Order: sequence, then C-alpha cells, then structure tokens
Amino acid sequence: MNLDFSCVWQYWPFLYHGALTTLKMTGICLVLGFLLGVLLSLIKISNCKPLVWFGRFYTSIFRGTPLLVQLCIVHFGLPQLIGVTLTTTQSGILTFSLNSAAYISEIFRGGIMGVDKGQYEAAMSLGVSYRDMMKDIVLPQAVKHVLPSLVNEAIALLKESSILSYIGAVELLRAADQITVLTFRFFEPYLVIALIYYVMVMILSAVASRLERWVNRSDRV
Ligand code: ARG
Repeated sequence: MNLDFSCVWQYWPFLYHGALTTLKMTGICLVLGFLLGVLLSLIKISNCKPLVWFGRFYTSIFRGTPLLVQLCIVHFGLPQLIGVTLTTTQSGILTFSLNSAAYISEIFRGGIMGVDKGQYEAAMSLGVSYRDMMKDIVLPQAVKHVLPSLVNEAIALLKESSILSYIGAVELLRAADQITVLTFRFFEPYLVIALIYYVMVMILSAVASRLERWVNRSDRV
C-alpha cells in the first residue's frame, strides 16, 4: 500500500473551489426547488383539474427519469432543440431545481394533508380567505412537519450535485478528477472528497436538528 496524501494537499485550491461550487449549487437549487415545490404542491391540491393533472404529470416525469438523463437533455439537447446554449452552472441550476421541485412538492403535499382538519374548519368559520388560510395557518404548520424530509432533500441534492461533473462543471468530484489527472493517483483524491462530502452532510444535519428544535420550541411543555 503506497498512500501519499501530500499530492492532494498540494492541489487543495482545486478542492476548495470545487467544494464552494458544490455548496453554492446545492444552496441555490434548494431555494429554487423549495419555492417551485411549494407552488406545485398547492397546484396539486387545488380544485382545478387541468392544474392537478399538470402537477401530477410534472412530478411523474421528473421522478420517473434519472436526474443525469434530465441534465443531459437540458445541457446537450436544448441547444439542438431551441438553439439555446446554457453554461454548465445554468444547466445544473435549471435541472436540479426542476427535479427537486417534484420531490419537494410531494413532501409538501403530504405535510399539508397532515395539518389537522380542525385548523381548516376554524379558519373557514372565522371567514379567513383561502389564500390567508394557506399562507398564515396551513403552510407554517406544514413546514414544521416536513422539515426532516426537507433536510433529506438537501442532503440528496448535495450528494447528487456530483453528477454535474458529467457535463464538465468543476464541482468537488470534477476537482478530484483534475487532481487524478495531474498526479496519476486516484485513491487519495477520491477518499479526500468523500470525507469532504461527509463533513458537509454532517454539518447540514447538525444545523438542521438545531433548526428543528427551534421550530418545535412552542410544542414543548
Ligand atoms: N439519483 C436519483 C435520480 O437519478 C436522485 C434524484 C434526486 N433526488 C432528490 N431527492 N432530489 O433520479
């Protein structure tokens, strides 16, 4: 066994920039996926049949096909189809946000359905409009219930961002690839990025459990 980690440290700026890109992409896609996902969940529980069908169709497409294939269609297919060429970052943000929205919409749909019926009835009997009821009563409670699943989604996004390397985005996995090319060593760079992913996920989980305790503080007796 001949391990030499010095060759990895020598190229640490690669890993640093790669990790920053990974974090940045995850953060942006999570926020966009969240906003789109909430919208989509509201569409799916609405009374308008065409909207409901659209919501279901959207979810089935994005959950039913591999994320990597979706990424390839957006990045390599769109230029041919509509003549629009996106950068790797733009393609990544677009695909990951659209994909994540499908998952988040289901998480939220479950969360909204889980809010006690009495809450709706109380709001309606007080004459609160549907919009205000959703905004001020139902969604805040749903967010509380879905927080653990949202954290799972954030972790999935963080790790899945590694497939961006396939289209050439220089995130963490691609940074390790570059080091392997320069040093002809494989085990060390890949092991180091595995550790970096792990630490990022651990930090995310720790922050999430604090957040969970904070949003549930009013439930404690
Ligand atoms: N690898 C899965 C796919 O190809 C994961 C998709 C992303 N998962 C998620 N929860 N956003 O479809």
